[in-house]
Amino acid sequence: MWPFTGEAPTLWLALYLGTFALHAVFVSYVLAGTGYALVQSLRKADDPIAAAVRDRLPFMLGCGITAGVAPLLFLQLLYQRRFYTANLLMGPRWGAVVPALIVGFYALYLAKAKTSQRLRRLALAVGTACFVFVAWSWTELDQLMQAEPAWRAMYAAGQRIYGAAAIYPRLLLWLGAMLTLFAIVASWWATGGERRRLAILGLVGRAISVIAALVLARSGGALDGSAHGWLYLLIAALAIEAGGWLWTMRTPDGAGLTLVTGAGAAALVCATIVREAPRLALLEPPRAEAAAAAGFPVFALTLVTGIATITWIWRAIRSTRPAE
Ligand code: HEM
Repeated sequence: MWPFTGEAPTLWLALYLGTFALHAVFVSYVLAGTGYALVQSLRKADDPIAAAVRDRLPFMLGCGITAGVAPLLFLQLLYQRRFYTANLLMGPRWGAVVPALIVGFYALYLAKAKTSQRLRRLALAVGTACFVFVAWSWTELDQLMQAEPAWRAMYAAGQRIYGAAAIYPRLLLWLGAMLTLFAIVASWWATGGERRRLAILGLVGRAISVIAALVLARSGGALDGSAHGWLYLLIAALAIEAGGWLWTMRTPDGAGLTLVTGAGAAALVCATIVREAPRLALLEPPRAEAAAAAGFPVFALTLVTGIATITWIWRAIRSTRPAE
């Protein structure tokens, strides 16, 4: 089934799409969760959702960064020349993602600690700014990779920021999707009225994404014709998800959330494929020497060592847990 057919390296592509979707779930919780906790702190609202979210944010950021490594590796394999060129063109501005993540990490620990309200607000504001910056940077990199005709002029002008008009509605589309993904995950730890509030946020997130998608479409934003089937599936999944949210608002502790989660997961998978479609035409076959130097024994050794180390850490931590 398209796009897992023809010239595209099927396995790498499937692994890229699957791991990218997982990454999106975690970073959505981080970005939208930090923003949510900030708004509630500015409103001085005594909100159990915000307290629970603050508590989980550092862990979720760790998961988001770790889950970003796998799609990063597959992305480099799939689009080598384009990925590295975009990295080099953006240079230090792209490198700023790393300090932003470090500052964001510390800010989340500060927001979680027992501290004054003012300091907590400041930490959440800094964290939100850092994560929006990181999201913007990824969107810019994604677009610059596909804009080969702009590379020469950008290099000649020593420009570090690629300011194509499509970047901002695309970022808005992502911010809406992130709000919804956050609402889905956070709802599993909430009940009653809290779930109802998250359902409203879930719907608001989708409304933001739809508006941004319409702006993108009007400006000729990229939608590859071959992805139409996946787009229809995406629209159907979003409609079912919306029904699930309305059900959750009526009966917060019913099965509505299960429906939302299933439909939301399907929507995420379809959206990652629709998102990838315009770039598939840019895939280049691997160079012969690179294909020959695949290094499977090293990969296998690393895999076994990795599994053994993780098992050892897991067992060591379990053995320190007091017996129940
Ligand atoms: C809180 C931190 C982060 C946020 C908010 C974030 C957000 C995003 C967003 C919004 C995109 C989609 C860009 C687009 O389609 O326009 C994206 C893509 C991606 N992110 Fe993250 N990200 C974060 C951290 C990371 C880290 C640390 C890594 C790597 C270790 C990573 C790896 C990736 C990869 C590989 C892609 C796919 C890029 C592409 O396909 O062009 N992200 N991220």
